[in-house]
Amino acid sequence: MQEIIRQLEEKRNRAYLGGGQKRIDAQHSKGKLTARERVELLLDPDSFEEWDLFKEHRCTDFGMAEEKNLIPGDGVVTGYGTINGRLVFVFSQDFTVHGGSLSAAHAEKICKIMDKAVQVGAPVIGLNDSGGARIQEGVDSLAGYAEVFQRNVEASGVVPQISMIMGPCAGGAVYSPAMTDFIFMVKDSSYMFVTGPDVVKTVTHETVTAEELGGAITHSTKSGVADLAFENDVEALLQLRRFMDFLPGSNREKPPVRPTADQPDRIEMSLDTLIPDNANKPYDMKELILKVVDEGEFFEVQPGYAGNIIVGFARMEGATVGVVANQPMVLAGCLDIASSIKAARFVRFCDAFNIPILTFVDVPGFLPGTAQEYGGIIKHGAKLLYAYAECTVPKITVITRKAYGGAYDVMSSKHLKGDVNFAWPTAEIAVMGPKGAVEIIFRTDIGDSEKIAARTEEYRQKFANPFVAGHRGFIDDVIMPHSTRKRICRSLAMLKDKKLERPVRKHGNIPL
Ligand code: HXC
Repeated sequence: MQEIIRQLEEKRNRAYLGGGQKRIDAQHSKGKLTARERVELLLDPDSFEEWDLFKEHRCTDFGMAEEKNLIPGDGVVTGYGTINGRLVFVFSQDFTVHGGSLSAAHAEKICKIMDKAVQVGAPVIGLNDSGGARIQEGVDSLAGYAEVFQRNVEASGVVPQISMIMGPCAGGAVYSPAMTDFIFMVKDSSYMFVTGPDVVKTVTHETVTAEELGGAITHSTKSGVADLAFENDVEALLQLRRFMDFLPGSNREKPPVRPTADQPDRIEMSLDTLIPDNANKPYDMKELILKVVDEGEFFEVQPGYAGNIIVGFARMEGATVGVVANQPMVLAGCLDIASSIKAARFVRFCDAFNIPILTFVDVPGFLPGTAQEYGGIIKHGAKLLYAYAECTVPKITVITRKAYGGAYDVMSSKHLKGDVNFAWPTAEIAVMGPKGAVEIIFRTDIGDSEKIAARTEEYRQKFANPFVAGHRGFIDDVIMPHSTRKRICRSLAMLKDKKLERPVRKHGNIPL
């Protein structure tokens, strides 16, 4: 017995060392933590239950059957634990073992925790740091990837799936993270691309570094592939803990509720002067969000991409809400291709996981131009329209200023089954702004500035206010800005047990 225990300890210690001290030192010298250190930091102390520590790969080619190539655990640490007491499953790829590359055994370990996460209803967090498919294993490793892909799809909308990219992620390997709900990256040490700089140089003759091609800044500002970029491993993991606190374990649960001292009827007088007198002057929509939500805490997603729309998580009376808001500070808050896709995906995530949606509207319309039309704004704008229309979670809308044209309809309007639709007294709900409207319907008067001014004023009086929509019942009430939090909290309480069923169908056909 003693001997068996000694052997077990020896094997365990060998597994804990991964690819050995030299490679651990190399990992540290790049400013990266090891796979195990990352799991330790992510999960509550002493909560990690590890599985498959002793699993080995089965490859015998290219000297892989030799003892030095058979590292217990095979390059990925898997198991479950808790974050602030709530269950999560995690896999953490170990770059010190064959570059964290994915063998058939490595994939089986990931699949095992994914299957269990779906059965018990808990999120899956992947800490990715891998050279991709284990080259020595050939098609076996490709098969392993596809098994993971299949599970990503089957788990989509059932349990939250989060990818933290903490090292290389290249080739087809990027597609597993791409199918998860959120992708976070670490600056300067992680990258994602379908083909690396060398292939790019050969095929397109472009010279580009790995960082420029697929680093954290590129993906969180240019491509929109990543939701956030963090400074280093420690910040990334601590922020991930904070992020997970907003999410339910699965689609079977309501979002978590956290005690708060912030009163639901808190009045915020400064909101009464948030909207500038000049309708063309921007203001910061984030100020409104921060003043309305619990304790001013807002976890913004994709802050560096498509800044004309703001999305993120907050809490009202302790319970998670998803916030979508036009940002007048960027492109006057208009909808374009990038912002429509960004918000549509966020709305669908909230809907899948029972998170009510608060929409703050100040939108002058869709962005005109050939770039947008050639880029397919019709199809991409329709994504957001589709997402709001199909979503059945509680939807509360506050129009602060402009709600013009198709964009009015899109932004969680009453017509898309918005549950509670409020407008501030400063709201202008119309087909377009007064000046544009008059220049079209009174085109013959364009040379006569006095006539145009009078017509513009007439149009403003008639439509540039919330009352016409109010007369029709398209908004439920015109509220004072200072009471916004109170009115939203009451609405959310009223909607707590909302039930809205959709007709049975295999699935809709969102314009992809
Ligand atoms: C086996 C790998 C490996 C891989 C790295 N290693 N990638 N072993 N399969 N895919 C090993 C290296 O041989 C090395 O072993 C150790 O990991 C560390 O790698 P280094 O190259 O020394 O590290 P670094 O300089 O930091 O470079 C990291 C890297 C590079 C950029 C990831 O290793 C690399 O380019 N690897 C190949 C990437 C790749 O082409 N993968 C296939 C992608 S296609 P030793 O023993 O020397 O320490 C793909 C298809 C998926 O993934 C398809 C899904 C459908």
